[in-house]
Amino acid sequence: MLESQLQNLAASARERILSAASPEQLEAVRVEVLGRKGALAEISKGMGKLTPEDRAQIGKLLNTAKNDLEAALEERRNRFANEALQARLDAEWIDVTLPAPGPRPGTLHPLTRIQQELEDLFTSMGVAVLDGPEVESEYNNFDALNIPPDHPARDMQDTFWLGDGLCLRTHTSPVQVRGMAKLGPPLRMIAPGRVFRNEEVDASHEHTFYQLEGMMVDRNVSIAHMLYFMKTLLSHIFGREVTVRLRPGYFPFVEPGFELDIQCLICGGPGCAVCKQSGWVELLPCGLVHPNVLRQGGIDPEQWGGFAFGLGLTRLVMMRYGIDDIRHLQSGDLRFLRQF
Ligand code: PHE
Repeated sequence: MLESQLQNLAASARERILSAASPEQLEAVRVEVLGRKGALAEISKGMGKLTPEDRAQIGKLLNTAKNDLEAALEERRNRFANEALQARLDAEWIDVTLPAPGPRPGTLHPLTRIQQELEDLFTSMGVAVLDGPEVESEYNNFDALNIPPDHPARDMQDTFWLGDGLCLRTHTSPVQVRGMAKLGPPLRMIAPGRVFRNEEVDASHEHTFYQLEGMMVDRNVSIAHMLYFMKTLLSHIFGREVTVRLRPGYFPFVEPGFELDIQCLICGGPGCAVCKQSGWVELLPCGLVHPNVLRQGGIDPEQWGGFAFGLGLTRLVMMRYGIDDIRHLQSGDLRFLRQF
């Protein structure tokens, strides 16, 4: 009677140990069967009432059952431990033979890239690359460019004045003045650089942006030369023909002056924030160098002529990469910069 009860108990306990789904379930079975107040302990408590022969018999069975169950528990525990270890090994597997990823290399800013590309292009055409200071004299930024102090054109560009006849240059055109003094006629130069205007900032205006000035001085320079130059430049940059239009434009340092617009490459024509809904973007103001400018630069306008342009590098970068807000460019935001 007690014997079969014991055997049933052992068999069902073994069954539960083998099918335990977690270490917690296993522990529950152990407490219930083998624990201090467990089923086996209950049985051995009642052994005092047995005859000596029965006691010996049941005692033996009890011991065997206990040992068996403990062995089964141990085995199952090991299985759980191994499974957990294996899962960890699978999850935390590292291939130590892989080369280390190393620090992420930086990339050139899109403006720097375009600037370098254009410098290479122009250098290959025999054009000098000049540099000028960002803090410029009022004379170079205005007077020498045929913009005397009382000239209304001074108001065309909102200037950051620094006092003492100095300002942050509002355009790269003062490098024309420096170029004429440095190179003398005939000359071919470009001058990329940062310029500043005291403007309200929005999707298409920044107080700080980039231009690339160009100036050629030679004998018999015509508008046809100028146009050829600009088209070469634009098709090089965009790698395809872009739709352009030429409008008359007023700048005191050129005569005649033009605005060369390109069809907006962000929206393709219908209008967007970058092209102020017009479908066109002013990209290349240009013209034939005004005789007064040549004269101020010590060049005889009777002997020499020239053309000049002021490419909007920042706008160009926006068109080329489809950037729809100028503020991204100086934001320092890595999510933006890592795209280039
Ligand atoms: N410097 C002019 C500007 O920034 C652009 C320009 C350059 C126009 C050269 C004509 C010739 O607005």
